[in-house]
Formats: sequence, C-alpha cells, structure tokens
Amino acid sequence: MKGRILKALRSDEGIVSGEALSRMLGVSRVSVWKHIRNLQACGYPIAGTAKGYCLSGSFDALFPWEFPGRESRMHYFSEAASTMDIAKEMARRGCPHFTVVIAGRQEQGRGRLKRVWLSAEGGLYFTMVLRPPVPTAQATRINFLAALVLAQTLRRLYGIDANVKWPNDILVNGKKISGMLSEMEAESDMVTFINIGIGVNINNDPAGREPGATSLKRIFGKEFSRKELLTGFLDAFENRLESLSLDAVIPEWKLYTLTLGRPVKIVTIRETVEGVAVDVDENGALLLQLPDGSFKKIVSGDCFH
Ligand code: BTN
Repeated sequence: MKGRILKALRSDEGIVSGEALSRMLGVSRVSVWKHIRNLQACGYPIAGTAKGYCLSGSFDALFPWEFPGRESRMHYFSEAASTMDIAKEMARRGCPHFTVVIAGRQEQGRGRLKRVWLSAEGGLYFTMVLRPPVPTAQATRINFLAALVLAQTLRRLYGIDANVKWPNDILVNGKKISGMLSEMEAESDMVTFINIGIGVNINNDPAGREPGATSLKRIFGKEFSRKELLTGFLDAFENRLESLSLDAVIPEWKLYTLTLGRPVKIVTIRETVEGVAVDVDENGALLLQLPDGSFKKIVSGDCFH
C-alpha cells in the first residue's frame, strides 16, 4: 500500500486528493490518511493541502516498498550493529535466496581482516544472502562478479572511472569508494549460503579518518540517491547471476582490475609478501611473482598497489 501511495504522489499529477487515492487503492479515506501519517512518520515529506496530498521534496528512502518486485526480500534497519550479523542469522533460519539486509548506518561495521568499516549516515550498507547451487570451490567467483557488476554500475550511473583492486575493492582515482566482505556456510562441499556485504561511500565522507577513501559526494560535491545505486546494482547483479556461466566471471573481472602487472604488497592474516601481481586464477587466487623469481599463490589477503 505504501508503495502504491508513493507511486501516485510521484506521478505527474503532483497533488492527489484523498478521495482519488481511496478510489485508486480501494480503501477508505481514513485508511489512506493513516497510511499517509505512517509514511510521514517514516520521514517522507508529504504535505496535506486543501486540494490533497503531495510530496514537498525528495527523500532517499531504502524501505522495502521502495523496491517493487523485491519488497518481501528487502529488510531495512535505520541503524544496526552490522548487516552481516543480521544476514547470517536470517540465512541460518532459512531466508530465501537474494534476501537483502540494509542499514542506514552501522555501529560496528566490519571490514576484511578484522578491520572496522566506517558506516556513517549517508553511505550505502547492505548484505545479500545468496544461495547459488555451486560447489564451495567456485563460490569466490560470486564475490568477483559482485565487484565487477558494482564497478560497471558506478561507471554506467555516474560516468566515473571505477576499477577493481584485488580481490573486491572498488577504486576511483586510486581511492577506495567501496569494499566487500563475504561469509559462507556449506554442507558436503556445496554452498548453503554465501553472504556478500557491500559498503559504498555515497553521501558520507570517510576521508578524514581514512585518507585512502573517497565517496561520490567528495568526487562530485553533491549528494546522490542511495536507492538508485542499490536498485541499479541489484538488478544487474541478479540478472548476471541467473544468466551467466561462472566461468566467464574472472576473465571479465580482469578487464576492470588495476592490480595485474603491478608491484604489490599483500597482507594476509599470517604474513606480508611483496611481488608483482602476475595473474588471477579461475577462482580468484592471485599469482605473485616474488623478487627471487619464484611464484606464490595467494587465496585471500589485502592488496596494496
Ligand atoms: C572491506 O573493504 O574491508 C570490506 C568492507 C565491507 C563493508 C560492508 S558494509 C555492509 C556489510 N556490513 C558490514 O559490517 N560490513 C559489510
């Protein structure tokens, strides 16, 4: 109902009378009024005029009804410790494939290698619960697909030169605009769920505390709709996930990476190694050529160009 009221208010009509809404939705005017009050309480700037109701401004909301077709699988929290924790609990309880948990801000946003992910209001923070029918060995390809599709979506929507840094960071002008974290559970070598958590700096600006970070707002000096980016990304990612053979992911990811061919430092939980990033194998492991000429395969770690 909320989605349908908003659709009517966002239409060309501008002002829509309570009577027209009640006819359109097949409910009483009192019921319309209650829904309007509810939407106002959620933060929508809906004004009641003598002629009817209208939206008096835009509001970048991420409530489930803002995602028609996905509504029942979208879960929004204005504030959360971490969307990873909520998503893991939901996944273990059996939530459907492509459930998405979104937070307006996170108190304990988690990054890779036990780092903190700064999650102030204005950024986009979400975790997707995916249940692809794939063996665990291939699951990392799905993370690479998410990074690839996000880089493509950022390019398509904003015309920015978004590239991927191994394994899944997105950089613009050498600064990090997005990071991904994934968690998986499996049974007999088949994935039960893989949760991919993505943070994108949009209208927040973490650069004060993280000099290597950037955001859309920092790049363009204005604010952007988180909903537009999330919708664009989810549509493209779901489409690719359903239609694409996973064999095609890494070759396409390579077209967008800045890592290959460069001298890099890789920090893993156990060690730090330096060398030249020579290749990425079919499951995303990085092949490093060390200073003594030998090769080393790195399955997971953090990469510094
Ligand atoms: C990294 O680059 O270190 C990964 C960052 C991942 C951040 C996202 S924000 C949504 C989800 N919830 C979290 O606590 N972390 C991920």
